[in-house]
Amino acid sequence: MSKNDLQAPRGTRDFYPEELRQREWLFGCFREIGRRYGFEEVDAPVLEHEELFTRKAGEEIVGQLYHFELHGRRLALRPEMTPSIARMVRARAGSLRLPLRWMSLPQCWRYERMTRGRRREHYQWNMDIWGEASVTAEAELISAVFDLLDRVDVPRDDVKVRLSSRALLEETLRGTVLRDRPERFAALCVVIDKLDKIGGGGVADLLTATSGAVGLEASDAKFVVEWLGHRNLADAVRQAPSGSAAAEELSRLFDLLEAYGHGDRVVFDASVVRGLAYYTGVVFEVFDTARELRAICGGGRYDGLLETLGGPRIPAAGFGFGDAVIAELLSDRGLLPDGARSLDAVVFPFGDEQRAAAVAVAGALRARGQSVDLVLGRPKLKRVLADADRANAACVYLIGPDELTRGEVLIRDLATGEQRTETLPD
Ligand code: HAM
Repeated sequence: MSKNDLQAPRGTRDFYPEELRQREWLFGCFREIGRRYGFEEVDAPVLEHEELFTRKAGEEIVGQLYHFELHGRRLALRPEMTPSIARMVRARAGSLRLPLRWMSLPQCWRYERMTRGRRREHYQWNMDIWGEASVTAEAELISAVFDLLDRVDVPRDDVKVRLSSRALLEETLRGTVLRDRPERFAALCVVIDKLDKIGGGGVADLLTATSGAVGLEASDAKFVVEWLGHRNLADAVRQAPSGSAAAEELSRLFDLLEAYGHGDRVVFDASVVRGLAYYTGVVFEVFDTARELRAICGGGRYDGLLETLGGPRIPAAGFGFGDAVIAELLSDRGLLPDGARSLDAVVFPFGDEQRAAAVAVAGALRARGQSVDLVLGRPKLKRVLADADRANAACVYLIGPDELTRGEVLIRDLATGEQRTETLPD
């Protein structure tokens, strides 16, 4: 076995106790916000049939699948949770009471080129609402994101939501550049999602490529790239067909977010389209305002996904909020808890003769729900006290020959240094 084989695969993480405590703290915050918003938690296998994730629009995520064949079946590690959630909804579509609010904390796998905050596995807090067609769902979801950011103490101005609407773009393009090829819209979105990476020129090249999935004329590609430059909703609406439903929805969403008290944290940005082909309506991404990191969170409306899986049409909206990017942001600002261990008690029998009494003391404390380290082996007292200190134990229970003779245990409070005795349990 080579040295490399003994390391975790590149882009994956081992979680040592300190790191796992930090992760659990973050997950605890995710769960707390989910609970505050009335979401129920669900889970699904990390392994799915590959076909659940393969779609034709040329999305990056499909090329990043960890997949393999076993006994004639093609399987893949999930790169995201949404298709699994859709699969679960489809299986019980007749009996689920809508609208439903589900959250999950899946580990997702994508064979990515690694940059800061971008890994080959990450955990993703997902919140999805199924069965609600109006933007009241998006408002509730975006508000939950802000409450999470507040819960982990991110300064209010450090993060913003940029939002737009694929429906608005689609309505605009159906009347213009996609007049004779409306079915190419999803592929067009996948291309324009690359704007940040390859710039307007690069997007125009891909939109006009004869071998590409969109195949626009140069002037039409220019129109699309210019549209993406809108940062003012009114400007974008001016180019949409009159009476545009999508435009009306977007302004309703901005009003609702104002009512939630988040109006100053949301901006319209036509360049947000998202790289996943299934989005159909409002789309949003959460970014650090300094733009040092990749998106912290992304989501939107995907009313057609269930139908593509052979199910009924059920409107849905949701988001995925990764653990890695927010951890970078929190660590930059010194907001990540230090992951220090904490224990209620350390119980130390000086020798084998005192072990039965120590077991009884530890048992009584554990039965009361305390976390107790019953010292194993026969280390020296100095070492036990130093370790108890490092573990942030509240107190140490000492049982030596004299204590045992007196039927007592000596309790030292590590914060104050005070000592007292208690009678040993029977
Ligand atoms: P996504 O934009 O691909 O959307 O991922 C959502 C979030 O997951 C990103 O904003 C980022 O925080 C995190 N993330 C994604 N890939 C990586 C990576 N390679 N390394 C670290 N973090 C990553 C989705 O996955 C959609 N399924 C979200 C959704 C749920 N839409 C509706 N419901």
